[in-house]
Amino acid sequence: METIESGNEIRAAIIAARQSGKVVGLVPTMGALHQGHLSLVDAALAECDLVAVSIFVNPTQFAPSEDLEKYPRTLEQDLSALRERGCHLVFTPQQSEIYPEGHSTTVHMEGIAKRLEGRVRPEHFDGVATVVLKLFNLMPADRAYFGQKDYQQALVIEQMIGDLNVPMELQICPTIREPDGLAMSSRNAYLSEAEREQALAIPRALQAAETEFERGERSAEVLIRNMYGVLNSAGLEANYVSIVRQGTLTPVVTLDESAVALIAAAVGSTRLIDNVILGTG
Ligand code: PAJ
Repeated sequence: METIESGNEIRAAIIAARQSGKVVGLVPTMGALHQGHLSLVDAALAECDLVAVSIFVNPTQFAPSEDLEKYPRTLEQDLSALRERGCHLVFTPQQSEIYPEGHSTTVHMEGIAKRLEGRVRPEHFDGVATVVLKLFNLMPADRAYFGQKDYQQALVIEQMIGDLNVPMELQICPTIREPDGLAMSSRNAYLSEAEREQALAIPRALQAAETEFERGERSAEVLIRNMYGVLNSAGLEANYVSIVRQGTLTPVVTLDESAVALIAAAVGSTRLIDNVILGTG
């Protein structure tokens, strides 16, 4: 496995691999890798000849009040996990490589980027789209792998790829959970033992919605009320609990086609998000 800090070098390595006929897969991350990230690496390894992972804690997607400074950084561990997995290339740029002095161009998105997370974190998806486009340019792979855990992020990137004619195929992989149901997240490291217990109300609420949906409940209002009930009884304050149409993220009243239920909630000072798809297709 090769670790590269230079943008020019990583681009040259990926172009050389593609010219030699290899299919290249890209997994963008902010590090503090867990099994969720590694499942994306596994999916890429299964489908590609060469897998490149980027590790970069992107400052532009954090608001000033957010956790950029304390975001977990575990580079040595990350590299050994990736090496063990069989990853080929890791891009670990310095901030000056991605945002050199004088950097003044960003991607700005409306539409789906303004819903849900976009309401609570107004600058967030512009930062994500900007860095992801830059990573796609520096690492021109055939395919990029993203997790369903960040459902809206995956949609935003899909939209950006279409809008800006980016030659990248997107693969969305399922959410990996802890045995007790909590979606894996680098931010779970912030939780105290008591908060970790409290956080379980998030997957419990989504699971309840899934069960009620499977039993025939089709009213979004009922499902949302019940999810709030589960969260509130665990003492959690939700940022939002929504059921929206897949793809467009517009609110659903009656679940007559497949939809997605999403929760964002604060557990102490940690903000967690999770989602589940209700119905298939
Ligand atoms: P990060 O939070 O490190 O996540 C990197 C990728 O791993 C994302 O595609 C995310 O959806 C996926 N992922 C995280 N937890 C997962 C889980 N439990 N199961 C499956 N996949 C999971 O998302 C980002 O970084 C950044 O916004 C980034 C796209 C790298 C841009 O900076």
